[in-house]
Amino acid sequence: MSILIAIDGPSGAGKGFLSQALCEKYSFAFLDTGLLFRATALKSTLKGVAVDDNKGLIEIVKNLEPSDFEPINELRSEINGQVASKIAVLPKVRAALVSYMRNFAEKRLKQGVGAVLDGRDIGTIVYPQADLKFFMTATPEERAKRRLKELQNRGIPVIFEEVLQEMIQRDRRDRERQDSPLMAAEDAIIIDTSDMSPADVVALASEAIDKALA
Ligand code: C5P
Repeated sequence: MSILIAIDGPSGAGKGFLSQALCEKYSFAFLDTGLLFRATALKSTLKGVAVDDNKGLIEIVKNLEPSDFEPINELRSEINGQVASKIAVLPKVRAALVSYMRNFAEKRLKQGVGAVLDGRDIGTIVYPQADLKFFMTATPEERAKRRLKELQNRGIPVIFEEVLQEMIQRDRRDRERQDSPLMAAEDAIIIDTSDMSPADVVALASEAIDKALA
């Protein structure tokens, strides 16, 4: 079951949901690569490291510890997401994080465990040779609605219009950056989740996985 699956797409498209559902169903290992950028961002804010300080940021990446992934509400906040997307334009910081991602995947594959990586550039840059690639999308309004619900469920007070605008801004930064922009790989299976139920999304992806595993 050493299959490597790349799931890319903008925020709120349903990547996290699908990744977790597939990992539960097939016992794959999961790496939420956005959380790596978010942990680096939060640590840089706490330490006063500037968003363009390559050296300081790489030092943070090299010293990421399990406890850095614990303050989940702070990590998932939109403010921290904005910092993450500013850091994400720096090629040297990306390179350090890509090493982390590849180490994670290679270790699992060697153990015979399938791995799912979700992010923005997994199918294009991190693992262009992935066995299967999904690119998830949905309308900005639908994605903002989901993001609003997620933040409200975490007890974070938010306003729809603000969530929508911040998401559009972050997506633009992710799509327009020079290094590893958000885009679908040519051989990715595109899933527009705007009008799909979660169960339908899992069924569609499962069909492709079952075919790849057969
Ligand atoms: O997926 P999530 O919204 O948690 O990611 C936060 C930010 O991290 C993204 O907006 C993007 O700028 C950056 N990111 C990236 N490449 C990845 C994963 C995340 O640039 N593979």
